[in-house]
Amino acid sequence: MTEDIVVVAGATGGIGAALIAALRDDARYSHVVALSRRRPDRWTDDARRTWLPADLLDDATLAAAARRIAGLGTPTRVVVATGLLHAPGAAPEKALRALDAATLTRLFEVNATGPALIARHLLPLAPRDRASVFAALSARVGSLGDNALGGWYGYRASKAALNMLIRTAAIEHRRTHPLGVCVTLHPGTVATPLSQPFAGSGRELFTPPTAAGHILRVLDGLGPADSGGFYGWDGAPIPW
Ligand SMILES: NC(=O)c1ccc[n+]([C@@H]2O[C@H](COP(=O)([O-])OP(=O)(O)OC[C@H]3O[C@@H](n4cnc5c(N)ncnc54)[C@H](OP(=O)(O)O)[C@@H]3O)[C@@H](O)[C@H]2O)c1
Repeated sequence: MTEDIVVVAGATGGIGAALIAALRDDARYSHVVALSRRRPDRWTDDARRTWLPADLLDDATLAAAARRIAGLGTPTRVVVATGLLHAPGAAPEKALRALDAATLTRLFEVNATGPALIARHLLPLAPRDRASVFAALSARVGSLGDNALGGWYGYRASKAALNMLIRTAAIEHRRTHPLGVCVTLHPGTVATPLSQPFAGSGRELFTPPTAAGHILRVLDGLGPADSGGFYGWDGAPIPW
């Protein structure tokens, strides 16, 4: 047993919960830390897992979580599985006339600023002498080059901003942590509350456990040369 720990942010989400379930018995980690605004349903802390409160819109909660994480071990895997596509009164915009400043701001706060602040607090805790991976879940629709359909202005733009923030962090991180990897990942279309209103569009739909398996396999296959990239659920690079 090592003191390496794995951190999953978005523990109450469809993909985040599946990641935590998949990591529960992974002997490479002495501890699984779950971050979310509220305690996940049926969650109890034990010798191998701890839940910590973390609100992406409240930097003090992220700083406090980082302090607790530093006391538990060395985070060699961090997956940020938080995100926002729709909320009551805030559907993805189909046209420019639907743009709303408050909704755009909220999408940027949750999808770009929040994960970047988690990187700010947790990347310095990565080990300098061995491999580590920090991954934030992005979305293929955040690719500028891949945008042929249009629509979903705020979600697309906030994920594009996330990709830039994490790529920029990867460049800085490599100077002090040459074995550290810092990436964004598209998990595919996954059956969760986030995708539920848009299901049935003909795209392949993964279950959360299947998506978690894909994500963990991609992370295991990444090395320092891959840092700063944007990858799909199958590990293939996605154009910016
Ligand atoms: N599902 C898909 O088809 C799909 C496709 C492409 C990309 N993705 C990306 O994959 C990631 C996970 O998505 P999912 O499908 O698992 O979505 P989900 O089931 O809706 O989960 C979203 C998670 O984000 C958390 N969150 C939202 N706002 C937060 C805040 N202010 N502070 C802390 N946590 C906050 C939610 O917490 P609460 O429970 O507190 O609300 C929840 O844990 C997202 O980045 C999403 O954009 C998903």
